[in-house]
Amino acid sequence: MDKPLPTDWSTAATAERRNTFYAASQKKFVPFKEPMVFRKGAMQYLWDVEGKRYIDLLAMNVCISVGHSHPKVVKAAMDQAQDLTHCTTMFYHPVPAHFAEELAATMPKGQEWVVHFTNSGSEAIDLAMVMARTFTGHLDLLALRTAYHGPTSAAQSVTGIAAFRHPGMPGNVAFVAEPNQYRGVYGATVDPYLDEIEQAIAAATTGRVAGILVESVQGYGGIIEMPKGYMSGAAERVRAAGGLYIADEVQSGFGRTGDHMWGFEQDGVVPDIVVLAKGIGNGFPLGAVVARKAIGDVMAEKFMFHTYGAHPTSCAAGRAVLQVIREERTQQNAKAVGAVLLERLKDLQQRHKAIGDVRGRGLMLAIEMVKDRKSKEPDAETTAAVFEKCRDQGLILSKSGPNRSVLRMVPPMCLSLEDVDQVAEGLDRAFNEVAT
Ligand SMILES: Cc1ncc(COP(=O)(O)O)c(C=O)c1O
Repeated sequence: MDKPLPTDWSTAATAERRNTFYAASQKKFVPFKEPMVFRKGAMQYLWDVEGKRYIDLLAMNVCISVGHSHPKVVKAAMDQAQDLTHCTTMFYHPVPAHFAEELAATMPKGQEWVVHFTNSGSEAIDLAMVMARTFTGHLDLLALRTAYHGPTSAAQSVTGIAAFRHPGMPGNVAFVAEPNQYRGVYGATVDPYLDEIEQAIAAATTGRVAGILVESVQGYGGIIEMPKGYMSGAAERVRAAGGLYIADEVQSGFGRTGDHMWGFEQDGVVPDIVVLAKGIGNGFPLGAVVARKAIGDVMAEKFMFHTYGAHPTSCAAGRAVLQVIREERTQQNAKAVGAVLLERLKDLQQRHKAIGDVRGRGLMLAIEMVKDRKSKEPDAETTAAVFEKCRDQGLILSKSGPNRSVLRMVPPMCLSLEDVDQVAEGLDRAFNEVAT
């Protein structure tokens, strides 16, 4: 081949090009005041163009499950890409077929599970919605406030955060209060939130529903864990109205919560449909809908063709991710290291009055900033200030939640105990500098 195309790595030139040639829709959502260009990643670390190292507590929006450029995942994908980069699902290929079998084996026993691969989480959400509506013959869906399910038109329609909702999305979605145990409308309880599901079905639907979508732990919503009894209670109520329980495991899956491979297992609920993406490919674009076979089967009436669905290169990466999770005990690491980090965050809460709440499990953690611990008024300004200071400390976090008042920590699951020291000390210094 001739010389590779030149790439200008300078931050200023990259910012200028983005600014000129990206559409507003692609350039608006940026974390820091000043642009940041990453040049390299390895496991839980990132390096910017100046060579500064960061601990990545955001994992590229939770996509990096087992580590940046994990050598086993990269090798599996490169080997496949070299042989045959793509093969559409019209033709048969063993790699996605193996991966479907391997994913199905991770689901609760006693059901026959089938898999439909997509390229992204929102495409998978979209498909799950179509499946639920087709299978039940009902149109109305339920979703939770502060849920984030993606940018496609259908996924936006079940997203309960106004900043991500645009004009023209489809309707037939009734929203119910998220069971936020820190600041939820019914407080730290479960039953009133479940009652609201019944009330919403009675008042805002035809009375017969297609289903409910629930993130087992709300991610972008600010690490809102579904309390014990909520997921199973929600499934019971929705099934009584003819609907399905759809678990969105895009952020909470693949062992991230520590105790289980899938977040819904925490409550013993067996979903009808499970939506996967992000960590499934460790950075390779991939999503999947895993459904009970009977639900998958209703889709045989019409064609549903994703050009890049069941992409062999992404699926080769996905197979390697499952293998690494097993071999390198990443779920166990998420549990152990996450527990230590949680304690360190609670310790910070003792010393910094801006921290109103510390929560989460495994490596899905958050601290929420408030102006006053009694009134719990969200403090987006302090959150943004600490977030910027963390950059200087070599920490990449995420400003999350509907009020942008939550610092979310969802690192690659290989985070170590030494990293935890750096995270806790870096956060402490950032809080001190902001003087909270
Ligand atoms: C819980 C959840 N579901 C779905 C999606 C949509 O996934 P994607 O961005 O791959 O379309 C996201 C993305 O952030 C998510 O966090």
